Amino acid sequence: MAQGRSTAVEARAACLALLLLLLLKGETVESRIYTVGGHSGWKISAIDAIAKWADDVQRNNTIRIDDKLYFKYTPGQANVAVVTGEAYNRCVLNPGALVYEEGSNTISLSRENNYFISTLNDGCSKGLKLGIKAL
Ligand SMILES: *[C@@H]1O[C@H](CO)[C@@H](O)[C@H](O)[C@H]1NC(C)=O
Repeated sequence: MAQGRSTAVEARAACLALLLLLLLKGETVESRIYTVGGHSGWKISAIDAIAKWADDVQRNNTIRIDDKLYFKYTPGQANVAVVTGEAYNRCVLNPGALVYEEGSNTISLSRENNYFISTLNDGCSKGLKLGIKAL
């Protein structure tokens, strides 16, 4: 009798543990969208806000591979090029770099180290660049 009861309790505990595991797993699998620069968006006049935003994001330690960055900007004033670390440092486009110009782009973080620059109006050399490390 006592044996039967403790088995039932164990079974219930195992069920709860499984449910918790599924919930936690669901949370990590779900990808999130981060708006670059927050309300400021992606523009040369907001490079300080973007740098502060990037610091916050990295300090929060929540951004993961498969999360997404949303870039909002005025077409013709900025663009978003996905570049290598070396191209980011030198403010150039590496061969095969993807360049977005539509003014509104959601880009998945597909690797640990992610680098973005704007190549319009000397954006990158003026500081319109972003390096984000995903977990
Ligand atoms: C960082 O975390 C704080 C506290 O949870 C939150 O308010 C803030 O929006 C986060 N910053 C970014 C850029 O996600």
